Amino acid sequence: MNFLSESMVDLRSDTVTRPTEEMRRAMMDAMVGDDQYGEDPTVNELERQSAALMGKEAAVFVASGTMGNLSSLLAHCGRGDEAVIGSESHILWYESGGVSTLGGIPTFVVANDAGGRLDPIDVANAIREDRSGYPRTGVVCLENTQNRCGGAVLTIEYMRAVKDVAHDRGVPVHLDGARIFNAAAALGVSPADIAAEVDSVQFCLSKGLGCPVGSLVAGSEEFIHKVRAQRKILGGAMRQSGMIAAAGLVAYETMIQRLPEDHLRARRLAQGLAAIEGVSIDLDRVQSNIIVFKVSGVDHPAFIASLKAQGLLVSNYGLRGVRMVTHYQITDADIEFAVNTVAGVLAGVQVAHA
Ligand SMILES: Cc1ncc(COP(=O)(O)O)c(C=O)c1O
Repeated sequence: MNFLSESMVDLRSDTVTRPTEEMRRAMMDAMVGDDQYGEDPTVNELERQSAALMGKEAAVFVASGTMGNLSSLLAHCGRGDEAVIGSESHILWYESGGVSTLGGIPTFVVANDAGGRLDPIDVANAIREDRSGYPRTGVVCLENTQNRCGGAVLTIEYMRAVKDVAHDRGVPVHLDGARIFNAAAALGVSPADIAAEVDSVQFCLSKGLGCPVGSLVAGSEEFIHKVRAQRKILGGAMRQSGMIAAAGLVAYETMIQRLPEDHLRARRLAQGLAAIEGVSIDLDRVQSNIIVFKVSGVDHPAFIASLKAQGLLVSNYGLRGVRMVTHYQITDADIEFAVNTVAGVLAGVQVAHA
């Protein structure tokens, strides 16, 4: 039972998803062993399937997306090497500055445009010359889908342009692919098609796929060997972690293919909101399961508190506005309720859930 959101429509994030019955059964029945001896068959199978899904040589199971990004950057960069990251990236905003504080990795921040992109020319300019006084550039990071840019989807062509710029200068590219399955669904390609444009990818089981815990990093054998060493340093090497990996295997079988439903509901939600006076939202920017919008005439914290009082949970995105995220626990009736509740709050009336 989830005490807060059980009785609420919870659009704060796709991380609020609870494991499905099938996941819970798989976790109960999981075959396990000590993963630090390489003996957990469920973890080994999850890592094998994950590498195959991403078209990479190897993958490693980590505790979280944050640990996946951090261990990847630690593996790409030596102490003092610089990471090129986006001004709206999750790594910059929400990972406690871990790459700098723990890794001694300074960041060179390049502006994200509204579509979640870094201009390849800016990336080229950010990559350092070999010159006394300059740090060495260790990695360029992209994010797909781009969370703070409203779930914007980076195309394969765009990613290739960044990869070409980085590789020309001998710099690897890392993808924060927390929602790579959403990106793949939106583009109508496989996750491996996206991952082919980067050297390493971190992706999460604990978001739209509904698992309780876990992320993976995929890349070359040599790179994943380094990530395993960094995971251990971070205290993230686990033992009978097949208990949680089991949910990931169920997610691969049952959850990836249903993500287009979440995208359809997000679009319907956005269209419903766009029709409400006082809401401003750019429908072209709604590309996956995340929507960000602004309201006029009321400040966002007060607006969000009023929605909560009526049973609707959303996220405050500060100057960017209000965020709503669809996921497998959100039904068509919930979408209708959300639209009516926003309309009701802006008009000062109470709305009941169907
Ligand atoms: C784009 C992105 N990257 C990384 C993360 C970090 O994942 P975790 O919360 O598992 O550390 C998130 C979490 O919401 C995310 O949205």
